[in-house]
Amino acid sequence: MAATAVATRGEPAVAAQDGNTNVVSGAKEITLNVNGEDRKVTVEPRTSLLEVLRDQLGLTGCKDLQDIYVDGADTVMIDGKATYAGTTFALQAEGKKIRTVESLRDGRSIDPVIAGFVKHDGLQCGYCTPGFVVATRAFLEQNPTASLEEIRKGLGGNVCRCGTYDGITKCALELAKGGA
Ligand code: FES
Repeated sequence: MAATAVATRGEPAVAAQDGNTNVVSGAKEITLNVNGEDRKVTVEPRTSLLEVLRDQLGLTGCKDLQDIYVDGADTVMIDGKATYAGTTFALQAEGKKIRTVESLRDGRSIDPVIAGFVKHDGLQCGYCTPGFVVATRAFLEQNPTASLEEIRKGLGGNVCRCGTYDGITKCALELAKGGA
């Protein structure tokens, strides 16, 4: 399984008396390194990394879709490993290098994985495609010459109702053969 579940999310945050829902009891400021930049965020112990990325940093590529049985839509890379941001506490990511799908595009330049998804029609309906893209990038960085069987196993942490994984597998295999 490519992604790693390290914790479960807690209940919704309690609003502070000043009405700012981002500030909760027991909250503290920490610095997270996201897409190469140090970002100051405010978290309490139960705050998930997904909440921070989406709600505080505006990085909405990773999705919270667990309530409709989509696994891996919240995939980000932490120190190069595909990880579920929704089941990782923000505090656990302190001092590590976090990369989101937004890091795979620089202006008009896109990561070969994104180009491969387009070429092989690996987009599916698109809801959890960013998670698949990040998982594929992380997998290829750790397994640059992977076989078809290794790719299928390595991307097994991303599951969604669209279920047409053939294009994604073809993309990953082509990049693996080309040494991407
Ligand atoms: Fe996952 Fe469509 S529900 S891509």
